[in-house]
Amino acid sequence: MTRLLAATTNAGKLREIRGILAGLDLEVLSLSDIAPIEEHEETGDTFEAIARDKALYYARASGLPTVAEDSGLEIDALDGLPGITSARFPGNTFPEKFARLFAMLDARGAATSTARFVCALALAGQGRILFETRGTVEGEITRQPRGTGGFGYDPIFYYPPFGQTLAEIDEARKAEVSHRGHAFRALGAFLRRS
Ligand code: IMP
Repeated sequence: MTRLLAATTNAGKLREIRGILAGLDLEVLSLSDIAPIEEHEETGDTFEAIARDKALYYARASGLPTVAEDSGLEIDALDGLPGITSARFPGNTFPEKFARLFAMLDARGAATSTARFVCALALAGQGRILFETRGTVEGEITRQPRGTGGFGYDPIFYYPPFGQTLAEIDEARKAEVSHRGHAFRALGAFLRRS
């Protein structure tokens, strides 16, 4: 069985990634499963640049083939915010972050907005990038957060084809349509080919 490092400590992301790659002959390790590595400082200004830097850094430090992803929420009426700042967007809790985003929408006279989750994925090994892809899922911001599943911004991300937020559906159904689902299935297809 091949070992693959998923360069994350986010339990929500890791659960999703392990679920999506479950059919492959892979042992998916997280940063919590290996000897501590000093945290990588993100300096890139696109999802792709951050994912690539992270994958190369952790592959070099661990000696393992490493997949890294950078993901976030782009709200069209806010010119793509919170975007690459999704994880550090101001607010101690997600409800606080939601309230701030709603206030920003109000300031622009927008009740709601189209939005998308983006996941840039990079696989690194042998000192180089071996595979890259981007997955997205299109939806709308709802002002009534709903659901207890998923993580992060899922309760305010309404997915019209399901008539529900991504926090109202179970993990397998989310993975069928999500940005991370698309990106990691593409990685799975690449790994099967190679
Ligand atoms: P990073 O990729 O670790 O910089 O963090 C991305 C951030 O975007 C996460 O901490 C979440 O706040 C948000 N995010 C990414 N993917 C999802 C998702 O599937 N659902 C909800 N929030 C997400």
